[in-house]
Amino acid sequence: MPLLGVVLPVLVLILASCEYVGGQDVFLPYEPGSHTTTKVHIGSLLTPGLEENLDVWLPTEGGTYNVFYFLDGMGAVTPANFYAQTMKHIASHGIAVVVVWKMSGPLNPEDKVPIFASVLEWAEEHLEKRLHNSGVEDSVHLDLENLVLGGHSAGNHILVEYLKGTCGKVKGQVFISPVDGADPFGLLPIYCINPRQSLNYITPTLHLAAGLDSLPGFSGIACAPEDLSNDRFYQALDPSSQRWSINATEFGHADFLDPPFAEAVGTTGFCSYNNDATAEEFSVYRRFVAGQTVTFIKALLEEEEGDCGQYLPYLEDTTLMPVAAEERHVNDIGGCPVAGCSWTPETIYTGAL
Ligand SMILES: *[C@@H]1O[C@H](CO)[C@@H](O)[C@H](O)[C@H]1NC(C)=O
Repeated sequence: MPLLGVVLPVLVLILASCEYVGGQDVFLPYEPGSHTTTKVHIGSLLTPGLEENLDVWLPTEGGTYNVFYFLDGMGAVTPANFYAQTMKHIASHGIAVVVVWKMSGPLNPEDKVPIFASVLEWAEEHLEKRLHNSGVEDSVHLDLENLVLGGHSAGNHILVEYLKGTCGKVKGQVFISPVDGADPFGLLPIYCINPRQSLNYITPTLHLAAGLDSLPGFSGIACAPEDLSNDRFYQALDPSSQRWSINATEFGHADFLDPPFAEAVGTTGFCSYNNDATAEEFSVYRRFVAGQTVTFIKALLEEEEGDCGQYLPYLEDTTLMPVAAEERHVNDIGGCPVAGCSWTPETIYTGAL
């Protein structure tokens, strides 16, 4: 059957390259999304009223996009460009990513909370206008009423400290290798979490851990010491916070940064890193971190019907993930993460530490 021999491979090729099944977009979180993106840098130095730098990755086509605020490593002092590939991937799925950072500023994360709050306020007034002035189409809008807050490393300390004070407009949170304390060396004993006490807010949570987080680099220092990182945050969540936690067992604390920066952090011995991975495997890992974040945000904010059939498997089924991973979750109500945040005043634990 020579005809079948020709037609079948062609048909298979067409089907394989087709992203549409029955007219519906197939969700492929680890591949770049369908949006073209742009990046705008807004420097605090030349912007009256703005206390931090903002780097925004967002789609270029008209539309209203959900917003993911991201507080980056070392307590949000790391230049946002270190995370460019991951952030661009998230934006390509139709999400506006706003990385908030500054090289200087107070060391104590608690002192950064009012600064972060002032940035959120500035953004409500000015961010869209500023983006449009920077060449973004006027038809591009941001939904600043429903925010997802994310952090890497000690950036999570500021995030948690902010939510301990108010939910604001936050509807969910993303912890990436979260670290408590004011610095990775434990010199400043300032913590956002008391291990004996649940956090005083309830919100759906995605937690991504890296398997090598708590291993020291050559320097002898772990970037995410066991007692100050991942489980400390996961276990402090209010029992009724829906949560998904995924551990990429083979990668290190800063391995999802853009290649030159991840390499620098690893080879200088600052953090432990995956020294067996190829450039392609690091790329897959960056798309994994971005893809988990995209999946969580879409499940949270884009599924009004509560049908998470196309999203939950990517949060729960490790066989779908492109890197070695372990997963656990608490989702007593089943279905989608329910966008929202509820807050009660903190009761200060007075027992012995
Ligand atoms: C993640 O996996 C690594 C490697 O198996 C393990 O050492 C580490 O404790 C795990 N982390 C978490 C938070 O479960």
